[in-house]
Amino acid sequence: MDEWIIEPFDRTIHDRADFSCGNAALDNFLPSLVRQYEKRRLGRTYVAVRSGSKLIVGYFTLAAGSIPPEAFSTPVKKFPLHPVPVVLLARLAVDRREQGRGIGSRLLAHVLRLCLELGTSIGIHAVTVDAIDDSAKSFYERFGFLPLLDGLFHLYLPVASIEDGLPPTPKPPS
Ligand SMILES: CC(C)(COP(=O)(O)OP(=O)(O)OC[C@H]1O[C@@H](n2cnc3c(N)ncnc32)[C@H](O)[C@@H]1OP(=O)(O)O)[C@@H](O)C(=O)NCCC(=O)NCCS
Repeated sequence: MDEWIIEPFDRTIHDRADFSCGNAALDNFLPSLVRQYEKRRLGRTYVAVRSGSKLIVGYFTLAAGSIPPEAFSTPVKKFPLHPVPVVLLARLAVDRREQGRGIGSRLLAHVLRLCLELGTSIGIHAVTVDAIDDSAKSFYERFGFLPLLDGLFHLYLPVASIEDGLPPTPKPPS
């Protein structure tokens, strides 16, 4: 059975040439943009590889973000008047050849664990994502992501909900 590893992207190690998830913007990020994002600290990218392999089969990118308090459906009076601190899940993608095998779920569970850890050091109210389409939106909703009021595909998951119960991590594909 394959062992899967999720680790920080390293351009000197990981093979990103053939990655293809079916979305051009997400595919182009690895060959053309990730290096600049790392260098300029615009996002941190983590990749999924099989143990002993350098081939990227999935990745996600995280960045700090903020959401205006009025975007939350909960009463505004419960929030401060300043923007609410969040972690932005800027990208999540799995290679087409590996989709439907639990890798996307494992990457997302890893994101949520990272956010819990980070949330012990800095204020993070929620994880947010801009789903690229209806299909991606339903993927996130399966994990409890909720709609924000400022965009049809803008979703969030409160860190308090993550604390209440992380989604189970699926077994690695065989
Ligand atoms: C969305 C994506 C990351 C999911 O990764 P994956 O490895 O295929 O997902 P998993 O195998 O972990 O699937 C987990 C569950 O979500 C479901 N699911 C997977 N992709 C889905 C989608 N696009 N829409 C709705 N549900 C989806 C699966 O059926 C599975 O359900 P199950 O546990 O009942 O079997 C992947 O399909 C992908 O890269 N898509 C193209 C890019 C994209 O849409 N990224 C999201 C950016 S916002």
